[in-house]
Amino acid sequence: MTTKTRLPAPPGPFRESFWRSPVRGPWLTSVLGLLLLAGIPVMFVTGLLSYAAYNPDLALVNDETPDKGLLGFYLFSWPTHPVWLYRLNQGTHVTLGLMLVPIVLFKLWSVLPKLFEWPPVRSLAHLLERVTLAAVVGGIIFELVTGILNIQTYYKFPGNFYPLHLYGAWVFFAGFVAHAAIKMPALVRSLRGHSMIDVLRTNLKDTRPEPLDAGGLVALRPGPPTISRRGVLAFAGGASALVGLLSVGQSLGGPFRKTALLAPHGQELAGANPDFQVNMTARDAGVMAAQTTADTWRLTLLTEHVTPAAGPVAGTDTVKSVTTLTRADLLRMEQHTVSLPIACVEGWSTDNQTWTGVRLSDLARLAGVPQPLSMLTRSLQRGGAFSRAVMSVEQVMAADSLLALRVNGADLTLDHGYPARVIVPDCPGVHNTKWVASLTFRR
Ligand code: HEM
Repeated sequence: MTTKTRLPAPPGPFRESFWRSPVRGPWLTSVLGLLLLAGIPVMFVTGLLSYAAYNPDLALVNDETPDKGLLGFYLFSWPTHPVWLYRLNQGTHVTLGLMLVPIVLFKLWSVLPKLFEWPPVRSLAHLLERVTLAAVVGGIIFELVTGILNIQTYYKFPGNFYPLHLYGAWVFFAGFVAHAAIKMPALVRSLRGHSMIDVLRTNLKDTRPEPLDAGGLVALRPGPPTISRRGVLAFAGGASALVGLLSVGQSLGGPFRKTALLAPHGQELAGANPDFQVNMTARDAGVMAAQTTADTWRLTLLTEHVTPAAGPVAGTDTVKSVTTLTRADLLRMEQHTVSLPIACVEGWSTDNQTWTGVRLSDLARLAGVPQPLSMLTRSLQRGGAFSRAVMSVEQVMAADSLLALRVNGADLTLDHGYPARVIVPDCPGVHNTKWVASLTFRR
């Protein structure tokens, strides 16, 4: 207890007497903290892996994060196998992120009095702790809000989603690690102080406040209980499980797809049976059927000289057009059939589809670059993340990487990318470019 005179706290939530819940206390906060301690690192790791799969090393096109600098220290060439890896990674990232929303909200409720602490800063150490709290509270809200807006395909951020979500993740995670380390002794103490079995056995009538704590979470003048601690845990766990059950079907696919009532995509089908989901229709992309007829559409193969250090320079004479092909020319080339899903960065996936077309490695050879450094695909679509993409040499050379002309035994429909689309194993769906207009193989 300090003897210094302090300015009286403003009325309302800044006064300790405002907070009256008898279940709020270090034990409940610690249990919720423990759940976050298990879930958040998985979110962080799957998020970083997703960023690697987005091919940031293939600079100037896929990488939309300028000056990633040190944050790019871990980047590696994303593998093409196993083909379900990206689907699993992104399904986990999005589903778990949604499931953590109720846990975060309950955790924030459990510590609300501390957010209104008065005086707001007491010492230098206290100020530093408040800075970590600003990063952890602000960071998690920012990450959840931007993530949820993104899976709703609401892209109107003040900036690009990728750098915002990536930088936000690092700020949040730095605060999270500091916060977890600072609070670990309190967590161990309070979890040891109460047995979970006892709490689960205690009904509303027998619910009592925890003893007053140094942290100041326990209400000084608690009101009568309106919910037991097991009730709070049941609500938090139940809400989290329900959100998970209503979302995970979009990644699992098959019969579970119909259960994904919270998933905005992953249920929308395009064209006639047998069919599967589309993210962007030809109409949305501004691609007209008239651009894709036998008379109008040609695939252009180009080559480009790049230096790994400087990267390609758009519009220079290092780009050479090698040949143009009609769809009939492509159909006369050796055809291959592969079974692959489309796994979207937004967490939804199609089931495996049977794609038929020409190997990208055969087209590279035809262009005279049998071992390209990378391949740039351009679409008939103008502008936007879907209009072009870069593939690594491993992705171009994989035996099941195709320029697909047919799917499930029929010609591609316009919404699925007719006349030709790229399909590469284990690659984020956004890079499986539709309505391909040209392929540039870089030496
Ligand atoms: C999204 C992640 C998290 C957020 C937003 C969050 C937020 C907060 C806030 C605002 C406080 C009040 C700070 C204070 O005491 O002045 C707090 C306290 C606490 N947090 Fe977290 N936290 C998170 C994750 C965790 C994790 C992973 C742990 C596990 C170690 C944890 C354990 C605790 C503990 C033990 C307290 C102190 C309770 C007391 O005062 O006795 N938190 N948290």
